[in-house]
Amino acid sequence: MKSIYQLKKEIVDVGRRTYERGYVASNDGNISARLDESKVLITPTGVSKGFMRPEDLVLVDYDGNVLSQGKRPSSEVFMHLCIYKERPDVNSICHAHPVYATGHAVAGLSLEKCVLPEVIIVLGGIPLVEYGEPGTEEFFKPVLKYLKDHDAFLLQNHGALTIGSDVLNAYHKMETLEHFARISYIAQQLGGVHVLPRDDVEQLIDARARYGVPATAVCQTCDSPGGESCEIYQGASATTNHNANLKPSGSTDIDRERLVKMVTEAVLKKLG
Ligand code: 13P
Repeated sequence: MKSIYQLKKEIVDVGRRTYERGYVASNDGNISARLDESKVLITPTGVSKGFMRPEDLVLVDYDGNVLSQGKRPSSEVFMHLCIYKERPDVNSICHAHPVYATGHAVAGLSLEKCVLPEVIIVLGGIPLVEYGEPGTEEFFKPVLKYLKDHDAFLLQNHGALTIGSDVLNAYHKMETLEHFARISYIAQQLGGVHVLPRDDVEQLIDARARYGVPATAVCQTCDSPGGESCEIYQGASATTNHNANLKPSGSTDIDRERLVKMVTEAVLKKLG
């Protein structure tokens, strides 16, 4: 088990990286780590993650009681504690506002697409979680329904959230998520996102063991590739034969159509 000082140092280092890479502005974001079965370390509220010192971190118990005298934990402390209770395998949590990932979250676009091998292996699908007011239960309650099968989340009109086996693992998932969001954005500008066909996705999921990635749900996006939320099989929900609806190369058009539909709806809504 890591010492409290080691853990504080890891959070400080990751906070600096998060800030330096522009994943947060000003005092945004929060990071935590499970210390043991009764305590969690979390960043203080209203402090820049780029300039923290180990002694700034706040120790809390799982009921949210502050154990570090005179310190105020992140306003999202209850979200962090709730995730630790629900996912015993999770030992660290990162919340940030990286530009491309948050851009997708603001545009209402999820990243639940099987596109890049590394993302499929490490993250699976990345759901778009409904908006809730930051710092309240409304904020983290919608996350809970996705929590069992996902390690990375887009938070609508807010930012991104990643969870992992340790501080670096949770942070690296944030990097992977943002990198994917950036690549997706560029692919959309260049004509569309091409998703991988089912066989390739299944091979990548099988390869998780080779990379030491714990296999949770089959795809982490849905119970099985071809499920209703799986964009590889868009349009397949009307039939039980998902293979018949497999559209690996046509999916670019599907994405573009969907994007146009969303933009049209948003413009019409704005015009009243
Ligand atoms: P805290 O400074 O309270 O952690 O809040 C930052 C944030 O990003 C809230 O979502």
